[in-house]
Parts: sequence; C-alpha cells; structure tokens
Amino acid sequence: MSITAIRGFNDILPGDTELWRHIERCAWSIFRTCGFGEIRLPIVEKTELFMRSIGETTDIVEKEMYTFADRHGDAITLRPEGTAPAVRAYIEHKLYTAPVTKLYYTGPMFRYERPQKGRYRQFYQIGAEVLGDESPRSDAETLSMLMKFFGTLKIQGATLQINSLGDASCRPAYKEKLYNYLKERAGELCENCVRRIETNPLRALDCKAAGCIEATSSAPSLVDSLCEPCAVHFDRVKYFLKLYGIEPLVNPRMVRGLDYYTRTTFEITADNGLGSQNAVAAGGRYDGLVEELGGPATPCFGFAIGMERLAMLLNREQVAAAPLTVFIALGIDAEKKGVELVSAWREAGIRVVEDFSAGGLKSRMKRADRLGADYAVIVGENELNQGVATVKDMKQATQETVAWDRVADLIKGGK
Ligand code: HAM
Repeated sequence: MSITAIRGFNDILPGDTELWRHIERCAWSIFRTCGFGEIRLPIVEKTELFMRSIGETTDIVEKEMYTFADRHGDAITLRPEGTAPAVRAYIEHKLYTAPVTKLYYTGPMFRYERPQKGRYRQFYQIGAEVLGDESPRSDAETLSMLMKFFGTLKIQGATLQINSLGDASCRPAYKEKLYNYLKERAGELCENCVRRIETNPLRALDCKAAGCIEATSSAPSLVDSLCEPCAVHFDRVKYFLKLYGIEPLVNPRMVRGLDYYTRTTFEITADNGLGSQNAVAAGGRYDGLVEELGGPATPCFGFAIGMERLAMLLNREQVAAAPLTVFIALGIDAEKKGVELVSAWREAGIRVVEDFSAGGLKSRMKRADRLGADYAVIVGENELNQGVATVKDMKQATQETVAWDRVADLIKGGK
C-alpha cells in the first residue's frame, strides 16, 4: 500500500506555488514600502511561550497544539501562530531599543483542528506586527495596508469587521457582567459554553451553536462597556479608517480565539464558499503581551493572513506562469549544439525543458504537448547548417524559422 500525507497536511504543487509566490512577492513589496522588515522565526518554540501568550483556556492551547517532549524531556511545540514567537524574538534581541519595530513573517503554522476545506493542521500565514506604537493611527494604517494588499490582488468583496475588547481597566468589569448574564442562562447554552462561563465567558459570544446565539442575543455589549480611553481609541480607529477610505463593520460579538488581545480586534472575511472558514485575515492590538513575556511595556498591533484561504480567492488567470519551451534536438550534432543553445536561452530568461527522448519528430512533439509546452524549438540537421531553429507556437499552431540568437526574444514576445 502506498503512503499518503497525514490528513490536514498538504502538498502545495507547482501551479499553486506559482500563485503563492505571486502573493508573497506582492505582500513583500507593499509591506516593505510601509517600513516592515522580514523576520524568520523558528518553527518550534518552548511550549510555555504559547501557554503564557495565547492563554491556557483557549481552544488552541487546550486542544490544538502539537506538543512533544524532545530528547531531553523539554516540552516543545510546533508554532500554532507567529505573534508570540515574534514578541519572544523582539524581547530576546532587544529590538525595543528602536521606538517602533515593524516585523513581517511568512511560514507554516500547526494546529490540531478538524481538517476540512479551508482548515488544515499545517497551514501557512503571512503575518505582520507593529511593536511600540500606541496610536489608533497605527491600527488604521496597518489595516489600510492590508486592505491595499487585498486590492492589489484584486480580491472581491473583502469585508473588514472590527470590535474593541477593552483593556485591563474595563474588561474585568464587563466579564463579571457577562458572567452573571450567562450564569442565568446556562441551561440554554451548549456544553462547551457552560464550561466557558467559568474559564473564558467572552468566547460564548461567538459560539456558532444556534442555542448559544439565541441565549446571548441580548447579552451586555462590550463596546458599550468600554472605559473612556478605550472608547476614544476605538472612535479614533474608525475615524482614521474613514480617512483611508475604509468603512468597517462594527461587530460587537466578535471575540478572538487568543487571549492576548486588548482594544481593537478585527477579521477580514470574503466569500470563498466555505461558510465559517471565510476569515482570510485577522488580528488586533495586544498592548500587554510584551510585558507579560518579560519585556518592557510595549503597545502592539498586528495581523495574520491565511495563505490557503487567500489563494482560494485569487483568479488564476491573473498569475499566468511564464511560457514553457521544449527544446527538441534531432541528431547527435544538434544535441551537442543544444547544450550551448539551451544554456544561452535560459540565460536570456526563457523557461526551457530539453526533450531527451528518442523517436521521431511526431512522437516527440506529442510529448512536448503533454509536457504543457507553449513553444517547441526544433533544431535538426538543416537548421544546424543554417544557424537557425524552428519555433512552433503550440497554442496558435504556427511556426517560424529564426536565427538562434533571436529565439529568446521571439518567445518573450520581442520578435
Ligand atoms: P488567527 O485568527 O488564529 O490569528 O489566524 C489568522 C488567520 O489564519 C485566520 O483568519 C485564517 O485565515 C488562518 N488560519 C487559522 N487557522 C487556520 C487553519 N487551521 N487552516 C487554515 N487557515 C487557518 C492569529 O494567528 C494571530 N497570530 C494574528 C495576529 C497577528 N494578531 C496579532 N498579530
């Protein structure tokens, strides 16, 4: 029996990777112009890092982490997200000596979730973190960069939903109010939410179970319970977003699955036909996390984009791969010359695969077609003597005979 990949772990094949590279290049060029520098983070971290940052009562830490004991018995975890590792690196390398640090990362994350389309156990994120800026303008500017990125990729119908989760001075009082509200309605809640009343009552607000939606429909709203500074911050974020031409949807029930958030949180959804897996990007402010992990008090804002979900929204036609040329040498002398010609054409930037098969021209042309060739370049005895090649356009079914040094230009459209 052949061995298959583990469920929830995907191969990304050529064609898809072409699309992924396009997305990554586009992210990099836009993020760079906003002052972000790339950070490459390890894939494994000490388990404690995620327990202390994401929160011990979150689904991620309770049920979804890939945690192992290494050969010394130390608990290590495949990173379920990039914010905590970025903050760990920020503290470890004293990046806080700069007034503001803007970091950007890409790579695989791991969560033991139930695999389905749009939800995987290994998935990729593009993330960005702004460390050291407390201004609501920073939230709005970073969100505008993200929306610009989606615009550049021509993503249709991306909707920005925002909320404020308050901070250490207003959230405890709200939690207490919500706790009392939920206690009275415990009989109407799902088993999971009954348990959450004690551990993480806010999570009941975004439970998808019909009974919980109904039971929490008149729950006290966090947005109405913000302290003055948090309310002002939220208003300013909305004001600056407007300046960037962005109209967000305020969703007071949006509670994130990670405990480190304070104040602004958001999700960007787009209709990818996957229902609840429609969040393509999410994030928010986490003003307490750096201090919590042993660094100086540092206000921060960031986001992460789900690569697989984003790629699903892209129009493949937009990212056509460079044309593929198959080179066919007929005869030993043409093969010898081919070594030099193919290398010169590659140097001139065209994508060339050499056909090493035996057989007549007809069968080799069929093979080129099956290889997906856009062009076939043929050099036989006649061509060799005249210093030319026959260039067949496989899609148009036309052909031209041109000098060797004009082949690359012809294929690149230079003629
Ligand atoms: P998150 O909401 O857990 O936030 O993940 C961000 C995005 O990653 C989601 O919106 C989704 O597109 C994608 N994603 C998450 N889980 C999966 C999965 N199992 N399969 C496929 N895609 C998935 C964070 O990770 C935070 N670190 C974001 C952040 C950065 N907050 C502040 N800075």
